[in-house]
Amino acid sequence: MMAHIYGDEELEALLVGNTHTKSTLQFLFTFLASCPPNYSFHIAMNYSRFMTAVSAARKASPIRVLTELMQKSPPSLISLAGGAPNPNLFPFKRATVDIGHGTPIEIGEDLMKRALQYSASAGIPELLSWLKDFQRSLHDPPTANYGPEQGQMEVCVTTGSQEGLCKVFEMLINPGDNILLDAPTYPGTLAALRPLGCNIINVPSDQHGIIPEALKEILSTWSSEDVKNHSHHLPKFLYTIPNGCNPTGNSLSTERKKEIYQLARKYDFLIIEDDPYYFLQFEKPWAPSFLSMDVDGRVIRTDSFSKILSSGLRIGFLTGPKPLIDRVVLHIQVSTMHTSTFTQIMISQLLHQWGQKGFLEHVDRVVDFYRTQRDAMLVAADKWLKGLAEWYPPAAGMFLWIKIKGISDTQQLIMEKALQKEVLLVPGGAFNINSSEPSSYVRASFSLSSPTQMDLAFKRLADLIKESL
Ligand SMILES: Cc1ncc(COP(=O)(O)O)c(C=O)c1O
Repeated sequence: MMAHIYGDEELEALLVGNTHTKSTLQFLFTFLASCPPNYSFHIAMNYSRFMTAVSAARKASPIRVLTELMQKSPPSLISLAGGAPNPNLFPFKRATVDIGHGTPIEIGEDLMKRALQYSASAGIPELLSWLKDFQRSLHDPPTANYGPEQGQMEVCVTTGSQEGLCKVFEMLINPGDNILLDAPTYPGTLAALRPLGCNIINVPSDQHGIIPEALKEILSTWSSEDVKNHSHHLPKFLYTIPNGCNPTGNSLSTERKKEIYQLARKYDFLIIEDDPYYFLQFEKPWAPSFLSMDVDGRVIRTDSFSKILSSGLRIGFLTGPKPLIDRVVLHIQVSTMHTSTFTQIMISQLLHQWGQKGFLEHVDRVVDFYRTQRDAMLVAADKWLKGLAEWYPPAAGMFLWIKIKGISDTQQLIMEKALQKEVLLVPGGAFNINSSEPSSYVRASFSLSSPTQMDLAFKRLADLIKESL
């Protein structure tokens, strides 16, 4: 924390209308000034106030705890405890996986036995430690050195970031809870939220993400008394996709993130940072994450390897305050038990071989591809859609969000007519909180089509729009 020694006059000014004595303030400020420069203060979070009764009632499964203990014990241990099957009888014996930009991953007989066996619910130790180091290097979260109950940074592996999101929502939401998000947004989030019966409040956004002034306006519904009394009507969290939002392509600016984080502190809500396109940012330096600003331990971040290593292997990871991540792990214990050990071993072997440097070099290669694809789509859009539609270049991700002029709802245009013209896009309504609300937008993805196909697709879309006007 930046320390500043207060002089007498400044203290007198602070004391106007204030009941604190000068000596108390003097003591406080002298104490603050004597703290090391990187020391940060935070008011301890009351995590239990955010959890549902179901989540709070979760207890560790004794069998799972034993499994985790066994995995940490020396080979000399004779365990009659586990219910694990004998892996010698499994038919898969060994594997070699060829790697682009790396040496083949060899899974020999012993490693294969581990890969085919049950494992710890939070993730296999060698992958977890790699991920924790990586999060520290990338985001340097203030919480990394906090005590466990103070919101210390914790990580767990999830079966895609979708599992993390879904379990976080189920940990936090009671029917009737208010939550904040900037729609249009990822339908997988909306589909997970809707059945939980929360009241979704839409926060206006633009090309640079959530508009802090609009968020402030929404939050002004609640008074400081509500915050002090932990009113259960206060929004529990803000959910956002800070980079290359699906579907809008929005990326939140650093200044806005800072303002939003301060509002989260003022109104005591959590921030769920769903960031699967973090590694698909087209320009460097990459934007600082909410996690990197998290002095309170109020950010839960979902990361995904889906866009970078594989979507089918189903691997992502959650980072956030330990008291909350532990609750998610208890949920994993009784649902999937853990993300596939085989998948985790494959990913872990790759990441240990590459190291952070090799992983980031791979990311650079992937980003180069998507940047070129984005540029090709922008060229095609300029050529065919000028005057018919509006868009802006996304700074990350894989989507172009196109507003069709003169068409109030793209649902019919796409679902009924586009297929006849042999072009397919996603109608914007799919991303609205209420999906039957009309939308004049369509989402175009630039991940799979070649520049020639993009050109032809936008020509067909232009013809379609002209015929429909
Ligand atoms: C914004 C957003 N969040 C989460 C996910 C889920 O990704 P994963 O494959 O990691 O489960 C996606 C997938 O497209 C997404 O776009």
